[in-house]
Amino acid sequence: MRKEKDALRAIDVTKIYGEGDMAVRAVDNVSFGVRSGEFIALVGPSGSGKTTMLAMLAGLLTPTEGVVKIAGNNMNELSEAKRTRFRGQRIGFAFQASNLVPYLTALENVELMLRINDTYTRKNRVRARELLVRLGLEERLKNYPEQLSGGQRQRVAIARALIHEPDVVLADEPTASLDTERANEVVATFAELIHEQGRAGIMVTHDLRMCKYVDRVVQMVDGQITHIISEPEEIERMAANSEFQME
Ligand SMILES: Nc1ncnc2c1ncn2[C@@H]1O[C@H](COP(=O)(O)OP(=O)(O)O)[C@@H](O)[C@H]1O
Ligand SMILES: [Mg+2]
Repeated sequence: MRKEKDALRAIDVTKIYGEGDMAVRAVDNVSFGVRSGEFIALVGPSGSGKTTMLAMLAGLLTPTEGVVKIAGNNMNELSEAKRTRFRGQRIGFAFQASNLVPYLTALENVELMLRINDTYTRKNRVRARELLVRLGLEERLKNYPEQLSGGQRQRVAIARALIHEPDVVLADEPTASLDTERANEVVATFAELIHEQGRAGIMVTHDLRMCKYVDRVVQMVDGQITHIISEPEEIERMAANSEFQME
């Protein structure tokens, strides 16, 4: 039963938006799993269904068909209230707009996840500080989001996605607003933390250069998985070859 060991598993997942002539099959019968301590990239052209897939993995969107399991739990079988709580405890998000609370400092933004989960203990507050320091934000703990650069905000978002020790961490285009150097720093540290802490990480990205930090690349086109690349040499080649850049 290797499958049950996956921290996250999508089984025959389909999402159809709209009905009749207007129906869009955004995700079409997709299955894959991610183990604890494994970091994967979800790539594909714009409109291929990546964000829709991520939203279903996060339990923010219900599949039209199929099942999403987090640590063996079928999210669709949970009541709305339980799902919200489950999501808060088991999943970490670092989404594109990163959504930091503007009137909270960097440290308070991370601590917010602890408050939400009723784990706002002294020990965890120390961990929040240590995580931000680890992410290079030692001098920025007391700064508000508007006082931070794009890369610094992204790193706060990553700390917030990891502080509550989730099974699964999801990032949608975490490097969208960053220059190459910052993008590399952010994803390299994200990968390190995922591997070290044994989270199951999924990053949606347009930038195939960022694939050099992941263990597996899952490519989607028109809602379907077209390629899965897990050979390190092949991933490296893909990340190094600009022909593969999307858009
Ligand atoms: N809320 C929605 N209602 C209708 N169609 C949508 C909605 N969100 C996305 N789509 C469509 O679903 C497809 C996949 O979109 P999306 O998941 O955003 O892809 P990606 O993140 O790869 O760009 C696209 O054709 C898009 O236009
Ligand atoms: Mg998208």
